[in-house]
Amino acid sequence: MTQPGTFHGVGLGPGDPDLLTVQAVKLVESAGLLTYFAKAGRRGNARAIVDKWVPKGKPELPLWYPMTTESHFGSDVYVDTLREFYERSVGAIADVLDMGKDVVLVCEGDPMFYGSFMHLHARLKDRYPTKITPGVTGMAGCWAAAGLAMTWGDDQLSVLPGTLDEDDLVERLKATDAAVIMKLGSNFPKVRKAIERAGLTARATYVERGTMAGEIVLPLAERAEDSAPYFSLILIPGEGRRP
Ligand SMILES: C[S@@+](CC[C@H](N)C(=O)[O-])C[C@H]1O[C@@H](n2cnc3c(N)ncnc32)[C@H](O)[C@@H]1O
Repeated sequence: MTQPGTFHGVGLGPGDPDLLTVQAVKLVESAGLLTYFAKAGRRGNARAIVDKWVPKGKPELPLWYPMTTESHFGSDVYVDTLREFYERSVGAIADVLDMGKDVVLVCEGDPMFYGSFMHLHARLKDRYPTKITPGVTGMAGCWAAAGLAMTWGDDQLSVLPGTLDEDDLVERLKATDAAVIMKLGSNFPKVRKAIERAGLTARATYVERGTMAGEIVLPLAERAEDSAPYFSLILIPGEGRRP
């Protein structure tokens, strides 16, 4: 009987292709199949980040997200459509693992940190050997790009999704020493208001496309636009007790 292949979740880091780990590069080179998530018909960010490391002729399988914009995030239709998509993706990956080939799913940042990879890993981990290769997270890339020291001494850091409602954000921001606010997009005006209400605007830095081409680093107060793209977040460093 053929030994099944291993399902790998490989982090690619925040965007600069030189921020891949050595292990990530080796796995991309040796993969029986290279796979990645992307918007329908697009190449996708993960595939763009890994581009310079993909050998010519490597078998690839893009996993194209179904269009979910027509249905409300969290609605039954949205959840069912995504579940079906994940099940289909799992089926395609399992077929290749059953042939004894390793499948490498590359992901922006770290695969176990708000990553779609986690939905496939949860479905496959009890059936096949799996291995995770961590990556530099988007937030670490962003605070490096901004030159910000985030946590001093016993500072407590909160990572908050911009999808939380405004009052919830204000409460959590007031209760923490340092914060990263991710998933801005259309939540940006609400997040900005919550930071203002928590009295933290002067300490907040906006980072767009951290470590990628077109990177922007700005004090939040200087960000004129009232919207933000997918790859953007806000950093509020802790102040700690310093000698
Ligand atoms: C679905 S999460 C994926 C996180 C990823 N797995 C990681 O380890 O960073 C996507 C969010 O991460 C943040 N993000 C990731 N990389 C970024 C970058 N290079 N610049 C700015 N924001 C980034 C954005 O807030 C974006 O909406």
